[in-house]
Amino acid sequence: MSDGRKRFNRRALLVGGAAIYGASLVAKTGRAAEPTKDAPLTLTAKPGTAQILKDQTTDIWGYSGTVPGPVIRVRQGDDLHLRFRNEIEHASTIHWHGIRIDNAMDGVPGLTQKPVANGDGFTYRFTCPDAGTYWYHPHKMSSEQIARGLYGALIVEERVPLEVDQDHALLFDDWRLTEDGQIHEASFGAMHDRAHAGRYGNTFSLNGTTDHVLPVRSGDRLRLRFVNVANANVFAVRIADHALTQIAVDGQPIPPTPATDGLVLLGPGQRTDVIVDAMGQPGTSAEIQLLTRRTVETVGQLAYTDETPRRTARSRAPIVLPKNALPETLDLENAIDIDIPMEGGAMGRMSGAMVDGAWMGMREMVRKKRYAWALSGKAGMSMTPHFTVKRGQTVRLTFRNKTMWPHAMHVHGHHFKEVGATASEPWYRDTIMLFRGQTKTVAFVADNPGKWMLHCHMLEHHEAGMGTWFEVTA
Ligand code: C2O
Ligand code: CU
Repeated sequence: MSDGRKRFNRRALLVGGAAIYGASLVAKTGRAAEPTKDAPLTLTAKPGTAQILKDQTTDIWGYSGTVPGPVIRVRQGDDLHLRFRNEIEHASTIHWHGIRIDNAMDGVPGLTQKPVANGDGFTYRFTCPDAGTYWYHPHKMSSEQIARGLYGALIVEERVPLEVDQDHALLFDDWRLTEDGQIHEASFGAMHDRAHAGRYGNTFSLNGTTDHVLPVRSGDRLRLRFVNVANANVFAVRIADHALTQIAVDGQPIPPTPATDGLVLLGPGQRTDVIVDAMGQPGTSAEIQLLTRRTVETVGQLAYTDETPRRTARSRAPIVLPKNALPETLDLENAIDIDIPMEGGAMGRMSGAMVDGAWMGMREMVRKKRYAWALSGKAGMSMTPHFTVKRGQTVRLTFRNKTMWPHAMHVHGHHFKEVGATASEPWYRDTIMLFRGQTKTVAFVADNPGKWMLHCHMLEHHEAGMGTWFEVTA
C-alpha cells in the first residue's frame, strides 16, 4: 500500500474505522468474508458497552459486543459462512435482511429454525445472489434486542466495483436513554408504544455515536450506504451543503436519482446507497443530519482533512450499478391478488380480529395478547400461512393502511416492485412505507421456496400483531 496504510488483515473481524483489503485503494469500512473453503467467521451476540454519548458509556448488547456489529463484506455470488454464538440472556437468531436467501437460513424462530438459546450457537451458510447493502439483526424479541444494539451492516460487493474513493455503511438509530445514559429498560414492551408509533428514542446516533466523524479529502467521491435500524422512527437524511445521488434502494440498483431537496427518506429496515462528491474546502466540515417528524438531529459530520484536494472538479466516472438478476418480468395478467388491509392501533376503531383462528374483540386482544393490529383481519402469527403459492407465481399484494400511523411493510426472501398508475417508487424494494391512509400495490415473482414472513418493520407493531407469513411451494 503506497499510502502507508497497513494491509488489511483478512483474519481479523474489523469493527469501526476504515479498512482496506485486497489491492483496492478504496477506503472501506469492514472486511471481506472468507471464501467458502475457509473456516467460518464467528459472530457472537453479547453484552458490551458503547460510547453513544460523549461523557457517558451505555451498556448495550452487540454483535462482538459493539454497536454496530462488524461490517460484513462478501462478494456477489459468494457464500457467507458464519458461526453465530449467543451470549445474551435471551434466545436469539440472526436474520439477513433483504438477502434473497435459502429459506433455512432466514433466521425466523418458529418458522425457519429453532431459537438459539443462551450459550448455544447456529451455523449460517448461504449464497448472496445480489450485490448491494443489507443488514443483519435478531428476529426474536427484536423490539428489545435491536433496541439494545444488536445490528450490523452486510455489504455484498459488485463483481466489478464502482469507482469511488471511499465506501462506508452509515447506520442510523434512535435510543431511548435514561438520564444516566442507560437504555430505558422499563419501557420495553410498553403497550403504549405497541399501539401508537412504536418505540421512539430521545437520542440519535450514526454508527453507534451521536457525533460520528467521517474524514474526507476534498474531491473524494463517496459511496455511502444508509441504513435505518431504528425500531420505528422514520428519518429523512441529509448532509449539509452536499448533494446526494441515490443509486440503490434496499440493495437493488436504481437509475442515478438526485435526492429532492438533498433529503432521502428511510423507514425502519430500509436502505439507500448514495454517491456524494465531497467538494468542500480542506479543513471545513458538514453536518450529517436526521430530520424526524419534529426535530433536526445532528449525528455526525464529514470532516475535510487539510490534504490538497484529490480533485477540483467532480469525478466523471459513471455511477450506474449493474442490475442484479431479479426476475424481470412480472406476469401481472396472471398474478394472484392478495388484499392486505392494515387495521388497528390507537384511534384506529378496529373492533377486533381473528387470533389463533377465533375472533377476539379489541379489548380482549390487548389484555390477553397485547395485540393492537391486524393484517387482513388477522392478528399475530397463525399456524397456517396467510397465502400459499406455487414457485414462479407472480403475487400482487395490495396494502391498505387504514390506521392513523405509518408502517414499513417488509417481505422476506423476495424483492417486490410497486405497480399501478400511482406507483411512487417503481423500484425493487424489500420494505415499503405506507403513511396514514395510503394504499400501495406491489408485485413480485414468488421464486424462492419456503416459509416467508411479511410484517411491519416497526418492531412494536410486528410484536403487537402486525406480522404474518406465506408459503412458496416447490
Ligand atoms: Cu429486518 Cu423480518 O426483518
Ligand atoms: Cu406498523
